[in-house]
Amino acid sequence: MKDQHYLITSANVKMPCLIYGTAWKKERTADLVVQAVQAGFRGIDTACQPKHYNEPLVGEALQRLKAHGIEREALFLQTKFTPLPGQDPQQVPYDKKAPLELQVEQSFEASKKNLQTEYLDSLVLHSPITPHALLMKAWSTMEKIQKRGGVRQLGISNCYDTKVIRTLYMDSSVKPAIVQNRFYQKTSYDADLRNWCANHGVTYQSFWTLTANSHILASNTIQSIAQKLSKTQAQIFFRYLTQIGIVPLTGTCSEQHMNEDLSIFDFELSAEDTNNISALLKIP
Ligand SMILES: NC(=O)c1ccc[n+]([C@@H]2O[C@H](COP(=O)([O-])OP(=O)(O)OC[C@H]3O[C@@H](n4cnc5c(N)ncnc54)[C@H](OP(=O)(O)O)[C@@H]3O)[C@@H](O)[C@H]2O)c1
Repeated sequence: MKDQHYLITSANVKMPCLIYGTAWKKERTADLVVQAVQAGFRGIDTACQPKHYNEPLVGEALQRLKAHGIEREALFLQTKFTPLPGQDPQQVPYDKKAPLELQVEQSFEASKKNLQTEYLDSLVLHSPITPHALLMKAWSTMEKIQKRGGVRQLGISNCYDTKVIRTLYMDSSVKPAIVQNRFYQKTSYDADLRNWCANHGVTYQSFWTLTANSHILASNTIQSIAQKLSKTQAQIFFRYLTQIGIVPLTGTCSEQHMNEDLSIFDFELSAEDTNNISALLKIP
């Protein structure tokens, strides 16, 4: 089994440097989560959003892992509150007519029940809400949950405007510890936002990391580094991201890819290789 590597977030939470994502796995969710954790993953990302995630089957996986001696405390568990526009109207996991604050509370209770846990390590607002006052209503409920010990840290996802996270940061008493974003060319790889995050203790988690970057993986730069180090292009890209402080999510369904992804901590890229990949992404 490969060693999982960790970092400590600004909320003092020990978070794996590579996280297993559970979206789109439907009825295979429990088997794949068990397989991923047995392969060595210790971070799990899910959401209270039945349209894309089967949270109850993540909970079933946790019970099965417990029976194999892997306790819940050994895992970093992250879920999300998904505002109404992101939910399938036929399967909203909270009262869609309730005030937003109550929706956040109901969603969090549903997550705890689904995951069969007393606490979460990380609770993420799935997307910004407008206007700002409404976003703060959701966030202040998340703060209440954090302050009563329901969750250890808070975060926001799909937040591509630095102004939004800056204002949230200024107006909050529990600061965002993570941002989870699509990592792609269209947003210039969030260079400005990530710079702001780095200066404010906010860790950046990436998704769509491989799917949105096939041209990067196929580049001569990545191919030649992969060849030189006898690694796959995906391993080089994931390793690069962890070395520049990004925590990638991987939702692979392949045992081989799980093992390859976890193996990225067995090697290190030189400063020259890291700079060459940054140049490719036009990251300053
Ligand atoms: N916050 C949000 O709005 C949001 C949105 C999307 C996703 N997410 C989270 O991010 C997680 C990851 O999603 P993703 O969009 O990045 O895509 P993903 O589910 O990780 O898919 C990656 C694709 O790359 C392939 N792949 C090839 N080589 C691989 C390798 N070595 N390692 C891993 N995958 C490899 C996978 O195929 P194989 O299965 O054959 O390996 C898969 O088809 C999700 O499960 C979810 O938790 C969050």
